[in-house]
Amino acid sequence: MDAGTPSSMTEVAEELRRLLANSHAPYSGVHVAAAVEGGDGRIHYGVNVENAAYPQGVCAEASAISAAITQGAKSIRRVWVASSLPGVIWPCGGCRQKIFEFAEAGCPVISFDADGQSERQAIEDLLPLGFRLTPRAG
Ligand code: THU
Repeated sequence: MDAGTPSSMTEVAEELRRLLANSHAPYSGVHVAAAVEGGDGRIHYGVNVENAAYPQGVCAEASAISAAITQGAKSIRRVWVASSLPGVIWPCGGCRQKIFEFAEAGCPVISFDADGQSERQAIEDLLPLGFRLTPRAG
């Protein structure tokens, strides 16, 4: 499934589970896949990409956001995440800020466990008082 229109929750969950195999995580062994729905309804996917120089690694959410912005998305309507860990995970602090930058108000972050069961949190609940900087014109 490439960037396309949804896509039930089940389809997104299945695609994330499939993409975990593409995650490059030889150092942590933690495989993560994420999807973001842009304001136009298209869904973009990403996986974590680790690096031997550890801080250079990229989280799955950041990969998905980069894909969405590259494809012209201007806002983020929904975020999904799945991982190889037991239970559900929530985005790291840095990724919460990255999501917040583009999130529509109340944007849900939906996390799947290995059985496809999901939990959700609004981005404002994951990142209260998130930082905003109004871009200067021009
Ligand atoms: N990771 C993500 O990709 N997303 C998250 O929400 C949490 C953590 C990645 C970073 C690193 O490659 C691995 O998981 C272990 O921290």
